Amino acid sequence: MNKDNILLELNKIRKEYPGVLALDDLSLSFREGEVHAICGENGAVKSTLIKTVTGAIRPTSGEMIYAGEVVDHQSPIASMNAGISCIYQEFNLISELTVAENVFFGREIMKNGFIDYAAMQEKTREILVDLGVDIDPKQQVKELTVGFQQIVEIAKALSQNVRILIMDEPSAPLTNNELEYLFKIVKKLKSQNVTVIYISHRLEEVFELADRVSIIRDGQYISTLEIKDTNRDELIHLMVGRELGNDFPEDSCEKGDVALKVENLTTSLLKDISFDVRKGEILGLAGLVGAGRTETARAVFGADPIEKGTITLLGKEVVIKNPGDAINKGIGLIPEDRKQHGILAQLSIKKNISFSSLGTFARGLLINSKKETELTRGMKDKLRIKAPTLDVPVSSLSGGNQQKVVLSKALMTDSDVLFFDEPTRGIDVGAKQEIYRLMRDLAAEGKAIVMISSEMPELIGMSDRIMVLCEGELVKELAPEEYSQEIILEYASGGSNNEIARS
Ligand SMILES: Nc1ncnc2c1ncn2[C@@H]1O[C@H](COP(=O)(O)OP(=O)(O)OP(=O)(O)O)[C@@H](O)[C@H]1O
Ligand SMILES: [Mg+2]
Repeated sequence: MNKDNILLELNKIRKEYPGVLALDDLSLSFREGEVHAICGENGAVKSTLIKTVTGAIRPTSGEMIYAGEVVDHQSPIASMNAGISCIYQEFNLISELTVAENVFFGREIMKNGFIDYAAMQEKTREILVDLGVDIDPKQQVKELTVGFQQIVEIAKALSQNVRILIMDEPSAPLTNNELEYLFKIVKKLKSQNVTVIYISHRLEEVFELADRVSIIRDGQYISTLEIKDTNRDELIHLMVGRELGNDFPEDSCEKGDVALKVENLTTSLLKDISFDVRKGEILGLAGLVGAGRTETARAVFGADPIEKGTITLLGKEVVIKNPGDAINKGIGLIPEDRKQHGILAQLSIKKNISFSSLGTFARGLLINSKKETELTRGMKDKLRIKAPTLDVPVSSLSGGNQQKVVLSKALMTDSDVLFFDEPTRGIDVGAKQEIYRLMRDLAAEGKAIVMISSEMPELIGMSDRIMVLCEGELVKELAPEEYSQEIILEYASGGSNNEIARS
């Protein structure tokens, strides 16, 4: 090994798609035992880069040197066997299979020509115990929370002797307490001399975990910095290539009448939740995983059955039968799980964006195509959706750009009340600010907004009021002068008392 301890070196990696130059002769190297962050805007081609490393896609040209030798891994399994594993942005688990079957998928342990389930379960159990988690190897993956599913992905990576572990936005689906766990695992791997390549849009994490950070922009290598020699502003500047203003827009709008009033909302998970939101107001919902934030939104939206409770919309009591009914009555929901509920991946950006706001474009049954194009182009520009045209299928976009499409849909509908569930998950810094501004604009137009977010800075920066949920109950309402990360977390974890409320 050379003096810098380089374990993996990428030399002029190039990836061309018809009409699109994705990777532009990118060179980058990774040291043994370092946590190396990769930062860049949505569509900067981070995921594509690491997919060329794992052999999930073939580069058009370029060379990869691993442990001093030129290699050409033909598939993710081949590179896993060589010690390079990856946790992809969208998980790759098969939900119908058990934990152990997933961990050894494609590399099943065999005995006398048969799959040795007992051995696979035993090995999986060892890895999980070593990670300090209590997951049953025989459990089906679909029964696990997202946080645990990710740990199964990590276990899968560790089931082989891993030298390089790549994590593509591992924190995006996690809540704060699951995040702590992820950090511990990353630090532990580093102490075992594993190289961790960590892709994230959350710069706090980059500063907490990484030794070095590389920035890429538009498929090009920009630079690599030692974390101790850089700061947030410099990283942002290198990533976006332009100056960004304040993180959160000023709130100057008047709050109007109550738009949505929810009383004693009770479901199988929620107990007597009551709250209201005014026109022009952004209400933040805080809480840990399982606290009932998403459930509250879904119940009001008619997506989950309600056992008890009343919903009053613009002064009139309503019964919401299902999501379609909610939309008709003026309630919108931007779901946290874009893959399942947010988009029709095979359809174009234009069709996806206009789908939920067809009322705006349709005159009778004729869709006003010109107006459709105009408005969707406006959204594409504002949110900087990176795509060659509006007609490409959403499936060809990067993760964050798909999320932007989901948001565009919502931002264009004409609802009186909008629930945003983790609106900026996986979205880069520049576009985040744009989304914050659009949310504020919607409020200024008189819409009532409920925002669910696990990102404390954004919850604190955007909310006019914060409601904290814990185990299906509303435990505290906070006014802006009371906000702090500590207080919110304290209530969210059920450890609150009156002293905190007064302090
Ligand atoms: N099959 C394809 N055909 C054409 N272009 C493609 C294809 N796959 C990827 N691309 C290009 O690569 C880009 C996706 O980049 P990638 O997913 O690597 O971005 P990213 O940096 O990981 O972004 P994010 O932060 O949103 O995850 C797309 O914007 C597109 O231009
Ligand atoms: Mg990506």
